[in-house]
Amino acid sequence: MAYSDFVNMLAAALKVTPEALLEARPLSFPMSTNRRGEELVEFLGRCIELDLKGKRVLDVGCAYGGLSVAMAKAGARVTGIDVSKKFIAYAEANALDTVDADFYAVDASSVSVRKIFKQGSFDLIVVNDVLEHIYDTASLAANMDWLLNDTGMIYFKVPNGFSPRFALSEGHRKIFGLTLLDPDCWFHLYPKRASIFYRPLSHFQAIFKHFNLPQTLFVDEERVFLRFTLRKLKNQFKQLYDKARDYAYPDPQVKTYVREGLTRFRDEYLYDVENSGEEFVKFKYGSFFFNGFAGRAGAKIRPLHAVREIAGIGLVADRGEPPARAFVAERGISDEQLDGPQSAELA
Ligand SMILES: C[S@@+](CC[C@H](N)C(=O)[O-])C[C@H]1O[C@@H](n2cnc3c(N)ncnc32)[C@H](O)[C@@H]1O
Repeated sequence: MAYSDFVNMLAAALKVTPEALLEARPLSFPMSTNRRGEELVEFLGRCIELDLKGKRVLDVGCAYGGLSVAMAKAGARVTGIDVSKKFIAYAEANALDTVDADFYAVDASSVSVRKIFKQGSFDLIVVNDVLEHIYDTASLAANMDWLLNDTGMIYFKVPNGFSPRFALSEGHRKIFGLTLLDPDCWFHLYPKRASIFYRPLSHFQAIFKHFNLPQTLFVDEERVFLRFTLRKLKNQFKQLYDKARDYAYPDPQVKTYVREGLTRFRDEYLYDVENSGEEFVKFKYGSFFFNGFAGRAGAKIRPLHAVREIAGIGLVADRGEPPARAFVAERGISDEQLDGPQSAELA
């Protein structure tokens, strides 16, 4: 059984027993890889008409391989790539004897990718919780353009650095104020290499368009149009100001940086409130993640749920019904996990 091979390998590396890993609740990020993979396959099938059978799929930043395994189980011909050799070894163990999937250790934003694969090799490219970890997203998009066939599409999911909730507590490091600073100043609050680069929605819209992915369909995963109010947003800004006032800064200079970042953030928000539609503001500040599909002109992206067109964003589809409670209970997912950042373990 490949998942148990994977668990044994992880347990040996962490110097704990496999039982301890299996019993921990909530499951850690690596341990939940297969469950998250299954959920994502289920989510994709709920968003658009998508038959993975026989599709050639590239899983960019596959990490422990759970999504690659789930897509292969659904009939896709999957290749997973990751910049880390260590992750590729885990993904191979995870897929071993279970599914037929290939894995390569390669930087997805480097030209090396073009030596491994032929041009136009893939029908679907998945970049799930990866774009924020890649510095050179333009070169990654250029590679995706090169790798995708004429009717192909990509699925992407990226945390929204413009959510005030992430300014209150950044999703990966859980530190106040990080997203208010430029990434090269993060070390003031987080003294290690972070390798996280938040970018605005317009950045992704621009690179997709530039690299021959003119169709975009965002999925309103958190149902912001129904659930998020401008009043809530105003409260979050108030909380931000309160926290900025009382925070234990390492030194006065850092306080200045955070205050400047907060002023910049507030000015942008006030500008948006004054100049953009309410739906745009809700989507831009209320979404935990931006996720959806970007496709070739010839791609057939057929949403399964209500779609609306919103100025400044484009097409946005409802996420559809959440997973049945039984599915959720079986996997020990809490309501908080469903309602909070869905990649709760933003790694
Ligand atoms: C948060 S994890 C996401 C893992 C996986 N997609 C999932 O949904 O569970 C980000 C992954 O992207 C990989 N990554 C970061 N930069 C990369 C690059 N330039 N090329 C390929 N993979 C990269 C990391 O090694 C890591 O495994």
